[in-house]
Amino acid sequence: MPRFDVTLAGELNLDLILYGLPAELPAERELLAQRMMLTLGSSAAIVAHNLAALGCRVGFISRIGDDPLGSIALERLAAGGVDIEKVRRVAGETKTGLTVILQRELERNILTYPGTIFDLTISDLDLEYLTDAGHFHLSSFYLQRGLRPHVGELFRTLKAEGLTISLDTNDDPDGLWQGGLMDVLRYVDVFLPNAREACLIAGCDDLEKAIARLAECVPLLVVKLGKEGALAQRRDERFRSPATPVDFIDPVGAGDSFDAGFLSQYVRGADLSQCLAWGNLAGAYSTTMAGGTEAFRDPKRLQEFRKERGL
Ligand SMILES: Nc1ncnc2c1ncn2[C@@H]1O[C@H](COP(=O)(O)OP(=O)(O)OP(=O)(O)O)[C@@H](O)[C@H]1O
Ligand SMILES: [Mg+2]
Repeated sequence: MPRFDVTLAGELNLDLILYGLPAELPAERELLAQRMMLTLGSSAAIVAHNLAALGCRVGFISRIGDDPLGSIALERLAAGGVDIEKVRRVAGETKTGLTVILQRELERNILTYPGTIFDLTISDLDLEYLTDAGHFHLSSFYLQRGLRPHVGELFRTLKAEGLTISLDTNDDPDGLWQGGLMDVLRYVDVFLPNAREACLIAGCDDLEKAIARLAECVPLLVVKLGKEGALAQRRDERFRSPATPVDFIDPVGAGDSFDAGFLSQYVRGADLSQCLAWGNLAGAYSTTMAGGTEAFRDPKRLQEFRKERGL
């Protein structure tokens, strides 16, 4: 029996979210936010934290700076039940990354200082640790600049050890959507883009065409559709699952929480409709409190939310 259900290697940082800003953000003015939240952020850490909250045994490798924000992020991840033994804290000029989210009524700005996110490389990864699991998940393919050239090699090794693999690219800040993604997809069992990312990666405006293209590259394609829920394409088979209605606070980390919900069932061998239902449950639950992990810090509330929705 492996030590972990899921291992991850990726970014670990905080999100600083400002709410209640004016609709316009003119330069050189003192603009006031009504509320703020400093919370565990970053796609990989959100997936790891929320997988643990959903009962999975999770091992996590990352690289952070020797600074207070790195310490807070690490404490939060550990408090969530994730194993942090292999997180490396490296002193130097580069600080732990930070994402500042300006959450406005109709849109948000996401500003990221990558810091140590770009510094994680294949030499930081303890392969024995990562392979002591049934499944490996990678988030933020395009933010992992140090690791990205070696992702194919990493996936090949993990597959040879019998792990299944999932990938969520998230956004590409350069807007190019290349970087060898197609080459690494051949090792991926579950690919988890949102609708916009699916179209950009497949290089077409039409979601159906994008799904058809991507479903030829991976055994299981799962497309997140925001308020519309999600769909899965397994070769010729299509599965759809509606979103769970919620009292919505913010969408930060909903996609990563969806990944955690979906994978928490996938690693247990659940059928696809169950995996999708849990993905939608976790994505929706994440939107009920600020940021991507706050809601998952309260096991009792999570339990009630699940029960009310029959899961
Ligand atoms: N308003 C909402 N109501 C209910 N569920 C939602 C809502 N918004 C998102 N979700 C849930 O969260 C999932 C992920 O949302 P979305 O499609 O926005 O992912 P994403 O764009 O990858 O998110 P992220 O910005 O976190 O990367 C959806 O598939 C759905 O299950
Ligand atoms: Mg996403």
